[in-house]
Amino acid sequence: MRARLVAGNWKMHGSLAANARLLDALKAGLEQAEGLGYAVCAPFPYLAQVSQALSGSRIAWGAQNVSEHDSGAYTGEVSGAMLKEFGCRFAIVGHSERRGLYGEGDSTVAAKFVAARRAGLMPILCIGETLEQRERGETENVVSRQLDAVLAAAEIAALADAVLAYEPVWAIGTGRNATPQQAQDVHAFIRARLGASDRALAANVTILYGGSVKPNNAPELFAMPDVDGGLIGGASLAAKDFIAICAAARR
Ligand code: 13P
Repeated sequence: MRARLVAGNWKMHGSLAANARLLDALKAGLEQAEGLGYAVCAPFPYLAQVSQALSGSRIAWGAQNVSEHDSGAYTGEVSGAMLKEFGCRFAIVGHSERRGLYGEGDSTVAAKFVAARRAGLMPILCIGETLEQRERGETENVVSRQLDAVLAAAEIAALADAVLAYEPVWAIGTGRNATPQQAQDVHAFIRARLGASDRALAANVTILYGGSVKPNNAPELFAMPDVDGGLIGGASLAAKDFIAICAAARR
């Protein structure tokens, strides 16, 4: 059985006080479930707090970005080795907000993926199309291009213990989620594309869906055969909602 995961992407939200309340509630409310992992991806300054709060718990943590460089004169950047020092297991790379608002192109995202792996982090690689691209029928071309950039920079084996997240840009923060069938179709396409290089690896890659996942739509999304959990934005900030979404990912 491939690993399932529900990860919260807090984005640029939180405070020491709010995080403490949220983390306490998650520790109390997230139950052990066979084959299902939990994680929160916090803003950099809060990683020390998160690491202290979650050490020894069943919840892993990660960052929302990582530098493609290991060290050097890169003002404002954070390396994979630094994230490891704070116990991060994951680093999100290529989130559409990084691609769209901060100009991260496919080759930068691929370099970040490789840097995260080099540091011993598990990248959560985000891919997905915009509304215009979907309407033009380009969804498969776009996710292929985004995936191929990473495959050109890393060996296919580097995907073996990575996590992919299909996040259609039009579904992020809009309250408009992809239908379960739309998500399933793209997830199956992604798996088949990886399968062309390595079938066994593709069968085991965890592919999350992200984009307006809420307690009411999580059960039907997570019931699709190629949807292995979720990357949750807004709803990961409310303990009750995140716990309900995690419960929906149990098998
Ligand atoms: P929302 O769940 O707020 O739509 O955000 C999804 C997302 O971007 C997760 O990375």
